[in-house]
Amino acid sequence: MRLFLALWPDAETRSRIAAAAALLRLGAEARTVPPQNYHVTLAFLGEVGPSQVEVLREIGRCQQLPGFTVAFDTFDFWPQSQVVVAAATRIPAALNELWTSLRGDLASQPVNFWRERVDPQRSSLRAHVTLARKVVQAPVRQAMSAMPPFQWSATSFSLVRSESSGNGSIYTVVDTWRLLDETANT
Ligand code: 2AM
Repeated sequence: MRLFLALWPDAETRSRIAAAAALLRLGAEARTVPPQNYHVTLAFLGEVGPSQVEVLREIGRCQQLPGFTVAFDTFDFWPQSQVVVAAATRIPAALNELWTSLRGDLASQPVNFWRERVDPQRSSLRAHVTLARKVVQAPVRQAMSAMPPFQWSATSFSLVRSESSGNGSIYTVVDTWRLLDETANT
């Protein structure tokens, strides 16, 4: 099965993202991401055999790290991947800590499969939420800069399964692990 680790929004965050995405003006070819699919990818794992899922679950379980709040404060068109994203210009230390810890734990597994997909060149996460795919024409920059930033308070992260259907991807949360209370040490 095709899996990835991600921040998965609660209902309130999802509707904040949807409110921003509703202001996008895109060409007819573009496909807006349905709100139930919004997420922030932490690590794309690709095809994973059933025997490896338990290893992934153990990796998820053992992350005893604090939650955090991320501001998605910029909207961007990435022509190479033909997507419009909401991105965070500032990555909170706790998010980077989670991403680094997951990356390290994935890369230290004996299965090469994961190591190949963990880019050793990248030193920090490009946190983003994809809002539209197959975007050929750049949206008007002024319109994107008028879109409202949104906050995402992450209290957990999830292992998610991705399946292709005729209408795009279907994502199913396989498991979720809570992050520690972000206010505990402040
Ligand atoms: P995205 O996070 O930029 O939208 C599930 O398929 C998620 O994993 C998608 O949201 C996608 O990008 C990301 N993804 C898909 N294929 C990938 C790949 N080969 N490498 C890294 N991330 C990938």
